[in-house]
Amino acid sequence: MNPEYQPLVEAARAALPLAQARYSGFRVAAALLCDDGTIVTGINVECSSYGGTICAERSALVRALSQGKSGFRAIAIVTETEGPTMPCGICRQLLHDYAPGATVIAAGSNATAIATLRELLPHAFTL
Ligand code: THU
Repeated sequence: MNPEYQPLVEAARAALPLAQARYSGFRVAAALLCDDGTIVTGINVECSSYGGTICAERSALVRALSQGKSGFRAIAIVTETEGPTMPCGICRQLLHDYAPGATVIAAGSNATAIATLRELLPHAFTL
């Protein structure tokens, strides 16, 4: 993994205890690298009406956009699983809409995977 991404993975890992995963127990945290060099984190926030649950990736993206951030270069996603967890379909679409050039780094406790958004969402829907 490019060492440039190490602080991003560490920022996501530091946010992991904040995840609100009371129904699934599946904690996820994400960290976005913005073009000004800042890092914005997000966590999954689960809802008792399950469809209202917000994934960590979208939580980070909404938070960053709300702070006026743009030009997202990379997003790290950290879970407690051994292997990496890549973004779900809805998150892939929102990332494609707002961070199409971002590199996606998914880190489990034992392995890391890296992909571009174009690889994760080929033939993407656009308006
Ligand atoms: N989750 C994420 O935070 N990101 C993903 O890309 C996939 C799923 C969360 C949603 C829910 O809180 C839990 O993981 C189980 O689906």
